[in-house]
Amino acid sequence: MINRSVRSRFAGLAGRICVAVALAASMAVAGTAASAAPARTMPATMKPNITRDLFGTLADGTKVWRYTLTNRGIRVKIITYGGIVQTIEVPDRRGHMANVALGFATLDDYVAKNNPGPYFGALIGRYANRIAKGTFTLDGVTYHLPINNDPNSLHGGTDGFDKKVWTPTPGSNNGDPTLRLDYTSVDGEMGYPGTLRSTATYTITDDSIRIDYRATTDKATVVNLTNHSYFNLAGEGTSDIYGHLMQLNARRYTPVDSTLIPTGQLAPVAGTPLDFTKPTAIGARIRNNFEQLVFGLGYDHNWVVDGSGFRPAARVSEPTSGRVLTISSDQPGIQFYSGNFLDGTLYGTSGHQYRQGDGFALETQHFPDSPNQANFPSTVLRPGDTYRTSTVYSFSTAH
Ligand code: GLA
Repeated sequence: MINRSVRSRFAGLAGRICVAVALAASMAVAGTAASAAPARTMPATMKPNITRDLFGTLADGTKVWRYTLTNRGIRVKIITYGGIVQTIEVPDRRGHMANVALGFATLDDYVAKNNPGPYFGALIGRYANRIAKGTFTLDGVTYHLPINNDPNSLHGGTDGFDKKVWTPTPGSNNGDPTLRLDYTSVDGEMGYPGTLRSTATYTITDDSIRIDYRATTDKATVVNLTNHSYFNLAGEGTSDIYGHLMQLNARRYTPVDSTLIPTGQLAPVAGTPLDFTKPTAIGARIRNNFEQLVFGLGYDHNWVVDGSGFRPAARVSEPTSGRVLTISSDQPGIQFYSGNFLDGTLYGTSGHQYRQGDGFALETQHFPDSPNQANFPSTVLRPGDTYRTSTVYSFSTAH
């Protein structure tokens, strides 16, 4: 059934998306190896395209599909389990392609090791980041969520959106390949009120990944959706990320207590190792004697993005490859996590060991624990309203 819908969508596209035959030809040149190791040169044949393969089957028999979305300068693999971005292949300054996203090679690894674990590439919901002590009160009713990051609830609980199989609808937008993913979370799931119909649509443009999130509810609830991709712009599994230059468009951050719950303050970054207002190596100050870095074992904080509306939040560059990642969104915050809990026990997509600091995550989001923090922007969604947010990850090179 899905096969038929993929074909009929292709048939209806106005020319820029190739049919499967052309796809097979271009893939023969480009190769389909998810690991992209060794790096390959960007093939001249790369053009907007989408295909899928069977990634695996869950214990209950549910099939998990992997979609490969290609555009002129980027190839992205997304699986229906967790809406996970498995790989992102982009060129370096010489045109050599490498996979810059951390992930796993198999569905079994994602099921067994991603949650609890790093949440590589996953869509996170219903509430990204932490809710203090797994409880909040809304309209006079107190709700209890699973405590999966003692003593708090993290990333939607033990069985969050990252563990759900989303319903895929491939398509195109002005010739760019898209993958719409739908998931309905029932009233009371993971302790949250209201049936939440949520959609994340991935659009792959020439050099970017765009994610548009939408959600509606039938009862007041809280929502904070994001994607938990980890990046290493030198190539997944090649090195740590401490030499990457990070710039955050943020003069303030939300300091946390020892359990990584915000204290409620919006504190200036000036004069602290959290000041990334100018491009600074991630590793330059990560071991400074600064209490916030002790709490996070490194960077694991929410920055308050300057300004409002859709705007750049972060720019990261990797000097050796020349690859640059720019992240823009309409969200008030961005969590920068420097892969502190990677401890060498996981082996990634290309079979390489992941150690502390081998990847970084930048999660566009509302502030952590907003449901319990009256002075933070609200994450309440009510019936009749639509939750909407968009994030764009743009890849380029600097010379
Ligand atoms: C988020 C959290 C981190 C960690 C990772 C997943 O970024 O803030 O503390 O839990 O997810 O490992």
